[in-house]
Amino acid sequence: MRIILFSGKGGVGKTTLAAATGVRAASLGHRALVMSTDAAHSLGDSLALRIGPEPTRVMDNLDAMEIDAQHELEREFGPIKNFLTRFFKGQGIEEVVADEMAVLPGMEELFSLLRVAELAQSRRYDLLLVDCAPTGETLRMLAAPDVLRFYFRKIFPVQRVLARTVRPVAPLVTSLPIPEDDVFAAVKRLYERIERLDPLLRDPKVTSIRIVLSLEKMVIAESERLFTYLGLYGYSVDAVIANRVLPDSLKGAYFERWGKTQARHMKRVREGFAALPILESPLRDEEVMGTLLLRTLSDEVYGERDPLSVFHTSRPPKVEKRGDGYVFSFDLPFASSDRVTAYAAGDELSVTIDNWRRNIVLPRSLSGREVVEARLRSGRLSVVFGGR
Ligand SMILES: Nc1ncnc2c1ncn2[C@@H]1O[C@H](COP(=O)(O)OP(=O)(O)O)[C@@H](O)[C@H]1O
Ligand SMILES: [Mg+2]
Repeated sequence: MRIILFSGKGGVGKTTLAAATGVRAASLGHRALVMSTDAAHSLGDSLALRIGPEPTRVMDNLDAMEIDAQHELEREFGPIKNFLTRFFKGQGIEEVVADEMAVLPGMEELFSLLRVAELAQSRRYDLLLVDCAPTGETLRMLAAPDVLRFYFRKIFPVQRVLARTVRPVAPLVTSLPIPEDDVFAAVKRLYERIERLDPLLRDPKVTSIRIVLSLEKMVIAESERLFTYLGLYGYSVDAVIANRVLPDSLKGAYFERWGKTQARHMKRVREGFAALPILESPLRDEEVMGTLLLRTLSDEVYGERDPLSVFHTSRPPKVEKRGDGYVFSFDLPFASSDRVTAYAAGDELSVTIDNWRRNIVLPRSLSGREVVEARLRSGRLSVVFGGR
């Protein structure tokens, strides 16, 4: 079972390459499903087919679907949302605002991810290809499981204690509403589903991200940052796909400068993403739509390769003993130390880079220790914990 996510800046060719990979995998005999998590769905256009929120047959071995995240959210999160709205209202927050607050940023995206996991566990497919929304939304989606876990740990245990010990008199002593059993049941179910995401998504043998980019300065800069943030959230990138590469036949005359610029940018990509295979996808003379054109493109991208293969695995996070302290390290490619902060509180390590933060629950051996130092070297962050 493999899950491959196609991520990158808007318009670079994520949908096209996800669909093309699906067509190719299916023709090699893998049971594949391409699913779009971008609310602005264009997977149907790419496959030249009307597809809905349930798997629709495209060809032998290939299905496609466009996830309706809003619907997934309403279905699974309804009772929790109602409770949270009352909870926030009980704190004196206006109803409209409380209603907004009950749905966290990244929540919709989380339900897309849960749907991906559900289909992975159904064993109906050998390969799930996720056609992602542009960078920001995708990062929110990938960060969502941690954010939600954090949120649940902070809000619900308190509530549970309250509910257990002071239930009969609670309405007199506090304005906080007591969650009903169905809310607890819904929280528990959701929590368990989130817990099951990790072993799937953070296993580099199962899940890989393929970064799609075009050979333009702004796009490459965004892709480098994406690679950093994916490191922060612990996802493995297995390839970069450079799309719209000018074919040699076009490199004369008008396209001469473009050809040179692309060559220069390609050098930067090869150097910066040196550990990863760089696949090339040529600029075609028309929009790549429908299974025939997608198939031709995918043959050029993958050559002899099976798109299901794991082309690369990132180095996993590591905990090492040093003196009477420990060092916890993980990859943060392209990061510079002025952009990173790290601190520990209780059993959590909080790492921030630019505007992205991750709260990592620490192994028992590290919890309660102080961060003595955080050091970045060759794209890897080492957080040094002192003795107890
Ligand atoms: N290699 C290519 N050659 C020609 N057209 C392409 C190529 N890759 C993508 N396109 C076209 O570019 C447009 C945007 O691609 P799309 O896959 O929708 O990007 P994204 O999903 O990243 O926003 C589509 O019309 C697609 O057919
Ligand atoms: Mg798209």
